[in-house]
Amino acid sequence: MSFALPRPHLTPSPSGPFAGAGAGAGRRRWRDGPTPVSLADLTALTRALAEEVRSGRHTATVDATSRWSQRLHADAYLDVWLIGWAPTQAAELHDHGGSLGALTVVRGELTEWRWSRRRVERTDDTTDGGSASPVLAAPGPPGNVGPGLRHRLLRTDRGAAFALGHVHDVSNRGLDSAVSVHAYSPPLSTMSYYEVDGDTLRRTRSELVPAGVPPE
Ligand SMILES: [Fe+2]
Repeated sequence: MSFALPRPHLTPSPSGPFAGAGAGAGRRRWRDGPTPVSLADLTALTRALAEEVRSGRHTATVDATSRWSQRLHADAYLDVWLIGWAPTQAAELHDHGGSLGALTVVRGELTEWRWSRRRVERTDDTTDGGSASPVLAAPGPPGNVGPGLRHRLLRTDRGAAFALGHVHDVSNRGLDSAVSVHAYSPPLSTMSYYEVDGDTLRRTRSELVPAGVPPE
């Protein structure tokens, strides 16, 4: 299937944003899901939009009482949000149902806690240099890494991509506010939430995501 991502400023096209050949069509990988948009496409889109936010094309707000968000684009394939994070604001440990996702930090710093079930020393989904970290919540001695939560710091202009099955929490643990751009394909329709019990990830609930509801 051929497609074209919307231009970064997301002006609606009469022929639809996915008409024509897409730059990411040849870069699909096994982690890409049932959508014509690849993780690389989503990452590139959030980077481009982050630049647009910095240039003033989109205005971001930070609300100390609740996480602020604004939808930048929505169509059958793609859902894009601008999110403002005051210090201490956080999501909740969650997945993205059947959607792929990506984020880029426009300004500030965000911390991602990600569940890893594999015996690895560092995270491997950092698409543009988020700083990977050692395990912080896994059993066993150092170097004998099992399932657990790992964290990485996503600084300004850094980001992360979310393949199917990616379970994470995102928060602003810094002293300054942060702003990020998030894109999902297909648009989020369900999300599950989790808790960690020792070295076990336990799903606590699943929810439908009504259209237009901000993502986690
Ligand atoms: Fe998420």
